[in-house]
Amino acid sequence: TWSNVPAGPPDPILGVTEAFKADKDPRKINLGVGAYRDEAGKPYVLPSVKKAEELLTASKPDKEYLPITGLGDFTKNAAKLAYGAESKPLVNNSIAVTQSISGTGALRIGGAFLSRFYPHSKVIYLPVPSWGNHTPIFRDSGLEVRGYRYFDKKTVGLDFAGLKEDLKNAPEQSIVLLHACAHNPTGVDPTQDQWREISDIVKEKKLFPFFDMAYQGFASGSTSRDAFAVRHFVSEGQQIALSQSFAKNMGLYGERVGAFSLITADPEEKARVDSQLKIVIRPMYSNPPVHGARIANTILSSPELYSQWESEVKGMADRIISMRDKLFNTLVDLKTPGEWGHIKSQIGMFSFTGLTPPQTKALAEKAHIYMTADGRISMAGLNNGNIEYFAESVSKAVKD
Ligand code: LMR
Repeated sequence: TWSNVPAGPPDPILGVTEAFKADKDPRKINLGVGAYRDEAGKPYVLPSVKKAEELLTASKPDKEYLPITGLGDFTKNAAKLAYGAESKPLVNNSIAVTQSISGTGALRIGGAFLSRFYPHSKVIYLPVPSWGNHTPIFRDSGLEVRGYRYFDKKTVGLDFAGLKEDLKNAPEQSIVLLHACAHNPTGVDPTQDQWREISDIVKEKKLFPFFDMAYQGFASGSTSRDAFAVRHFVSEGQQIALSQSFAKNMGLYGERVGAFSLITADPEEKARVDSQLKIVIRPMYSNPPVHGARIANTILSSPELYSQWESEVKGMADRIISMRDKLFNTLVDLKTPGEWGHIKSQIGMFSFTGLTPPQTKALAEKAHIYMTADGRISMAGLNNGNIEYFAESVSKAVKD
């Protein structure tokens, strides 16, 4: 029956974890998937999350179904975290928001909703490069995917002129996907002034801005500073769509906690959009999982846990920054050919090293070091115990 099914390639990101797991060498390092590791290289359950789970267990919650759009208190608090408590559309009750199966699920709901109801275009522009899953998510949602220039290989920074030109040349009212902060995979973000300019172009060209905010808190260590772009667009009166993930900033990877929201004109329009979000979601997965949303909501709704959590996010961001400094210094000490300043200037969880596909392949085969073929490394996978071995191996791969 299935003789016509061709073998598919491994996932460019999650496939790296499979290869890593199959490697038996004790020196092996996985810098593929963006998942935080502590100083000992171990998965990290945030103390605020542990505390929230204790409180939850003590409250003996039931296991009933959530509504289709999820836990109401969680979605309210998630929106507050992204838009800010003072946000006008939030105060006016005109943000439609649903819980989602983390960031991917939020993007998928958004893609499906836009594909069904956005009346002006079926075209979405993604930055080049973008997170590897963006293209299949939006393609499978029924949208046509195109690219706008983002990363400049020569400067290893933002191609701001190219970005502006491409957005200006996009057909009016196209959808444009923007990484709210800590761009994945490059670690290169626009400055606040550049965001203001991007917002002006999006407004002028009547483009529809769809923000993916998977790393709120990871870029600067502050959740409100990292929400600058989202909040600026909203303060300019733009009706954005937003995908949020709590995988990274709360370390809730496998709990699949996220939210999708859309700004509407008023509460009446919001109610209509809400009703259709339910119709999009119900045939996909009925309703979302409850446990992770309860954890996130316990943190977001308790002032003490919230401030503890914020300092833990900052702690993760700071450890990554210290690894950037150390990696840069070690590569320079080893007289590694090339410019490595971008290791320090890039932000968020990833560094776009500039290593080529043959170099990344050699690192996997000879040094048991795994990363995505585009040369992206998850900085969070480095620690004082493995960074020197990593730097020496990179230095060797570059010199070979
Ligand atoms: C990543 O880019 O590594 C993360 O967003 C995890 C994933 O699902 O790809």
